[in-house]
Parts: sequence; C-alpha cells; structure tokens
Amino acid sequence: MNCFKLVSLSFLLLVHISSAQAQLDENVSLTFDIDGKSQTIKLKDIQKHVPAYEVTLFNPVYKKTITYRAFKFAEVAKLGKIDIHSSNQISFIARDGYKAVMSKNILKRFPEPWLAFEELNTKNGEVFSLVAEGKEITDPAPFYLMWQQPDSYKAFPWPFAITKITANTKHDPYFDIKPKHHVTAQVERGFNIFKTRCMACHSINLVGGTIGPELNIPKNITEYRSMTFLKAWIKDPSSFRARSRMTNFGTVTEKEIDDVLSYIQYMKNYKQWDKIKH
Ligand code: HEC
Repeated sequence: MNCFKLVSLSFLLLVHISSAQAQLDENVSLTFDIDGKSQTIKLKDIQKHVPAYEVTLFNPVYKKTITYRAFKFAEVAKLGKIDIHSSNQISFIARDGYKAVMSKNILKRFPEPWLAFEELNTKNGEVFSLVAEGKEITDPAPFYLMWQQPDSYKAFPWPFAITKITANTKHDPYFDIKPKHHVTAQVERGFNIFKTRCMACHSINLVGGTIGPELNIPKNITEYRSMTFLKAWIKDPSSFRARSRMTNFGTVTEKEIDDVLSYIQYMKNYKQWDKIKH
C-alpha cells in the first residue's frame, strides 16, 4: 500500500499538520462498550498509543478523492479491547442514534477499515467538510469509518459522527428479532435485508437504530399502513416527503421490498410486550 504515509512517528510533522487544522478538538472521545462494559478514551490518548496515517481515498458521499488523517480501525479497536476478527458484530453508534452493525462478512470482504478523525485541507478549516443528510447538514466528526475501496460503501454505508463502538462476544445481538426455525425462505431473506439495510435506522422490538420509527411494537407497521403504501414508500421515500431522512434505495428491487415486508409482517406475531409494559 503506497497511498498512505506514516506521519505520527514524526512529531514535528504532526505538530505542523495540526496547526494547519486548528479546530481539531483533542478532547473529543470515543466510547467502547464490550458486552455491556464501557470505557471512554479521548482522541488525544488514542493518538498517544495508535499511529495516525494520511490516507487518500475516493469518498462516494462527496464523490471525490479526499485525504484524511486516520487510524487503522483494528488498532483503535484493540486499544478499546475489541478484537475485530473475533467479535460477532461490531456496531458504530452515531451522535444522532444511527447504529451501523458491521458483520463479519463485511470485514472479510473489506478487511482494512480506517477510522478517520480529520480531513485535510477543508475549505473553511473545519475538521471535516459537512455532508447533507435529508433536510440536515451534518458534521461527520468526531470519527468517520471508511475504506480505500469505494465499493465497500454499497455493502456497508460508511458510518460517521461515530461516538460509540460496541462489540458483542457472548450474546447474539439479533436474538430478539430473529425469525424462529422453519420460516419461509422469503422471511429469512427479508430478515437479512432488514439487518443490512434498515436496522441502522429502524428497530423491531426496540432492537436497532433510533433515527426511524420502531416497526413492530405496540403496532406492527403492516397493521396500520397498507402494503401498497409500504412498497411505494420503501422504493422512493422522497416521492412522499421532500428530503426524507430515509435513504432512497435506488438499487432495491421489487423482490427485495416484498422480502423485507414479509419479514416485518412475520414479526407481528413475535411482539415483545414486556419491553413496553410498565
Ligand atoms: C438512514 C435511515 C433509514 C434507513 C436506512 C431506513 N429508514 Fe425507513 N425511515 C427512516 C425515517 C427517518 C423515517 C421517518 C419518516 C420520514 O423520514 O419522513 C422512516 C420511515 C419508514 C417507514 C414508515 C413510513 C410511514 O409513514 O409510516 C417504513 C415502513 C420504513 N421507514 C421502512 C424502512 C425499511 C423497510 C428500510 C430498509 C429497506 C428502511 N426503512 C431504511 C429512516 C430510515
């Protein structure tokens, strides 16, 4: 790999770079939560233990090549006591509640994620250039996960504004939303689509992200919205609400929409009432 340079070993160079990017707040921190045990580490302490690199890559969100200062994600994870290759799943939780769950499969295909903490040469000297998200403009700071391979973005949209990383080594984090045995192949496929494309924002039985609405309790979405509406909505949310925060799935097929809806509908018989009773 010759597209990055080791910079942190040169103290002088580091000072030079950070003085050009004056806004970098070294007091920002990252929380690690492993099987429910949590610890928070400041960026400046991560910098003391983990080398930073200059990484130049194509960012599909900005549609251009950008240079970042970044850690190798595996090394930061190790500092937080997460072994990225032995954990079941690693989740990235953003400031706004977005929760991206990275499966082992993603890591197998794209084994070298970077955790960027600064973009170089931004227009107004910000730490990162801002990015449009629905109706809002978001700051990707403090941490932004990315790869040198832009096609990884299609398999796993790069999470940003990360404040917390969680890993699960003991429990199956999907236990409460997994279809039982002997379900149809369609429900099984739908569950996989839900996990990879919906769960970052939506929950079922309150398992998942919090940006979009819960889809199962107390009422399953298929109990109060028609199938016709749901199909049209998932296909093209912005044809209903301008700049919806829900991603427009340009690539989602009719079949995938039917699959994911069959899973969601199936879950109406598996409501976890105990989670909402007081
Ligand atoms: C980036 C976040 C995000 C992702 C990913 C996402 N959604 Fe949403 N979804 C939202 C938000 C936010 C809303 C609330 C409505 C709005 O934006 O106006 C929503 C609303 C919905 C609704 C309710 C619409 C209504 O008016 O009742 C359904 C159903 C839905 N999403 C299904 C899905 C499915 C299925 C997937 C995966 C294929 C998915 N969403 C992926 C954010 C997301």
